[in-house]
Amino acid sequence: MRTQVAIIGAGPAGLLLGQLLARSGIDNIIVEQRSPDYVLGRIRAGILESVTVDALERAGVAARLHDEGLPHDGIELSFNGERHRIDLHALTGRRVTVYGQTEVTRDLMAARQAEGTTTIYEASDVSLHGFDGTRPLVRYRKDGATHEIECDYIAGCDGFHGVSRQSVPVASTRLFERVYPFGWLGILSDTPPVADELIYAGHERGFALCSMRSKARSRYYVQVPSTERAEDWSDARFWDELRSRLDPQAAQSLVTGPSIEKSIAPLRSFVCEPLRFGRLFLAGDAAHIVPPTGAKGLNLAASDVLYLADALAARYQQDDPRELDGYSEKCLRRIWKAERFSWWMTSLLHRFPDADAFSSRIQQAELDFLVSSEAARKALAENYVGLPY
Ligand code: APR
Ligand code: PHB
Repeated sequence: MRTQVAIIGAGPAGLLLGQLLARSGIDNIIVEQRSPDYVLGRIRAGILESVTVDALERAGVAARLHDEGLPHDGIELSFNGERHRIDLHALTGRRVTVYGQTEVTRDLMAARQAEGTTTIYEASDVSLHGFDGTRPLVRYRKDGATHEIECDYIAGCDGFHGVSRQSVPVASTRLFERVYPFGWLGILSDTPPVADELIYAGHERGFALCSMRSKARSRYYVQVPSTERAEDWSDARFWDELRSRLDPQAAQSLVTGPSIEKSIAPLRSFVCEPLRFGRLFLAGDAAHIVPPTGAKGLNLAASDVLYLADALAARYQQDDPRELDGYSEKCLRRIWKAERFSWWMTSLLHRFPDADAFSSRIQQAELDFLVSSEAARKALAENYVGLPY
């Protein structure tokens, strides 16, 4: 087989890239190691920046998002038993949209199928070759046979554990990492959300987040030590813990019900520099991870992919390679700002097991400053709604 761009991974990054390239008339094939159902079964965050919505519009996959997504003009911070609203729209003129990543993925899959573009699911032993020269090659196994795709470029959109980044010689990369000593235990339930907007709660028992997927489906999280196992958390234990971390009004109005999903996600900050190795380009979680506190994971994947799609279009349509040359640097500037914000919001609201009395007071002072200073709230809001491309 031969294509212009071989894309590794059919998560939101790979699927969005495929869609944007197809719209620019650039031929592409996606190679994914899992099945479509497995990909759709992963529950992830659900907040889209307005620039991400713009990118999905450009890809022609925003119809259902506009029908079913919930525009949110603010978020709430909760600490010391009180809630404080951050009016995102008044502070920035922009808003975010609540729409699950699973739904974004579903819309992208449907659009790809409608276009008839090739996606190879359940490909095993995927390997990347020749990207340091002029004739890259992707090899994989499927149905007992080995297959090869010759291409001009490879896009590594295969997530944190993918093969793309691991195919690059260690000496050519610089890795930056911070692993946090806790995770988020999350549940999904068909119960009405506790409030109209998201509540980010800092509490001495640990962080909690009240989010949603729709007016009838809630997504809640509590911070737990990294050693915790989801199996040890009954629904009743989860609801009690969540309630104990909320302000009295939210605790009282919380509607509980059976969980339809329950899992623990570790928290990590990670960046791989650079994002380009010859004819291989990394995008999304393959290149960077943020802790979920700022809801930046999917949004960052979308901005990488938009830059890459534009750079490939310039290369194919005007024979201009300059944007591809600048891809890594351009992405990294936005990535590091989102890394900073996600790290900051995580530090602001979580309990750190090794925190001493001094750091606890600093955390309190920072929260106090935030609710008393419009400048501080504006800085949060500007980052939360998403920095411009
Ligand atoms: N070969 C082929 N496909 C692979 C391989 C491999 N060796 N390894 C992983 N994959 C696939 C995974 O099965 C997955 O479907 O690559 C895809 C990567 O998807 P994601 O992990 O969702 O990453 P990305 O598309 O970059 O999306 C970023 O996802 O994790 C969240 O917070 C993150 O919201 C952000 C978004
Ligand atoms: C979610 O709805 O899953 C969600 C929302 C906001 C976050 C993280 C996750 O910051």
